[in-house]
Amino acid sequence: MTASEVRVPAAGSFPPGFLWGVATSAYQIEGAVDADGRGPSIWDTFARVPGAVAAGESGDPACDHHRRWPEDVALLAGLGVGAYRFSVAWPRVLPEGGGRVERRGLDFYRRLVDALRERDIVPFVTLYHWDLPQALEDRGGWRVRDTAERFADYAATVHEALDGVPYWTTLNEPYCSSITGYAEGRHAPGAREGHGALAAAHHLLVGHGLAVARLRENARPGERVGVTLNMSPGVPASPSPEDAAAARRMDLMVNRQFTEPLLGGAYPADMAEVYGEITDFSFRRDGDLELVSAPLDFLGVNYYYPIHAAAAPYAQPDPALRSAYDIGVRTVMPDGPRTSGLGWRIEPRGLRDTLTGLAARFPGLPPILVTENGYGDAGELDDTGRVAYLAEHLAAVADAVAEGVDVRGYFCWSLLDNYEWARGYAARFGLVHVDYATQARTPKTSYGWYRDVVTGRGALPAVP
Ligand code: FCB
Repeated sequence: MTASEVRVPAAGSFPPGFLWGVATSAYQIEGAVDADGRGPSIWDTFARVPGAVAAGESGDPACDHHRRWPEDVALLAGLGVGAYRFSVAWPRVLPEGGGRVERRGLDFYRRLVDALRERDIVPFVTLYHWDLPQALEDRGGWRVRDTAERFADYAATVHEALDGVPYWTTLNEPYCSSITGYAEGRHAPGAREGHGALAAAHHLLVGHGLAVARLRENARPGERVGVTLNMSPGVPASPSPEDAAAARRMDLMVNRQFTEPLLGGAYPADMAEVYGEITDFSFRRDGDLELVSAPLDFLGVNYYYPIHAAAAPYAQPDPALRSAYDIGVRTVMPDGPRTSGLGWRIEPRGLRDTLTGLAARFPGLPPILVTENGYGDAGELDDTGRVAYLAEHLAAVADAVAEGVDVRGYFCWSLLDNYEWARGYAARFGLVHVDYATQARTPKTSYGWYRDVVTGRGALPAVP
């Protein structure tokens, strides 16, 4: 794509007070997996399984952020962002998942929050970005309800300790924590289950609801509580009714099994149709949906690409052995632009459709914050592909705003190149390049461009 073909939003497209930020997560940047009494997480364990992660890489040392955080805060300040979204590592705070609190773990985040506030950067905390303490996985992980209770206790502990955090997100992408981790097996803990994965999805939602209640009980003035979902529209690969039904199943699995209970207080009717053969839903209890659908102050939306779906036979014909990821769908890749590193489809329109679709479906929808959006490549410093991607997706956000959707902020993924989960370090999403051998940080072209966006308050500079 040439620069002249890239759409950028017009000046003044974003409302006053729009929050401009960048995002990271603990396991992807911190390293220091044994420092200060941190316990193991499911990602430490999973990364050691042969073949689980590209090149056998783990989150140690990642960006060594646990030691180098002052340098990273300086990079944030140089970028001029108003907010920084980061996650707290549960196993740093509660090494066994519950019980004994590791004060040194909390102190690390206290120092970070203080340093951000000194620079007038709003701290935006995600409580769970996939790093479940291994001790809890050993007792069943998210398959069991007790993990939801433990999560609420952990949330309350962190909330009490960290003063000066206006934004609290309970979960990042419960779809990935449940289906990718317990059904597809591509993420920790690497299981391929049916009933267990759907129980995990439900218990994540219950954990969210319990945590919201605990945070509300002790809320300080001005604090806002929300959740972050990854949303990928399901697009039928052809006009056939079979592909339309496949896209709807995809939409159920990825989006609606989370949006409907959280925002509408009920599971979608087609849950039983799609999953009735592999589970009896016995993990659901009376009162759960009231808890799960407690009002939120914001909804976080992560968007990268839509999924083009075609009907396909089940990989496992026997329902007793079938995983919750096996829904009779094949994803297809129509021609069109893709990101250079990961080959993810580039369809900014999908972000606009996601935002307008949410507003249309849920009348009481809280304000939306786009909590992640970004471009993975192999690490070019002159990353014009990333700049074009960000500009076009900001234009899509501006379109949704112009159509009346209440979007209050945008966080680019990510500040730094980091550990991209099962893809290891090869896929790079940072505005800042990290040389993992030396830990040297080098701002890319996109860093300067995004700084101009942020400091121009949405008056977007031309794409280089
Ligand atoms: C999202 C994750 C984030 C990062 C990006 C590329 O699904 O929340 O941690 O890996 O994808």
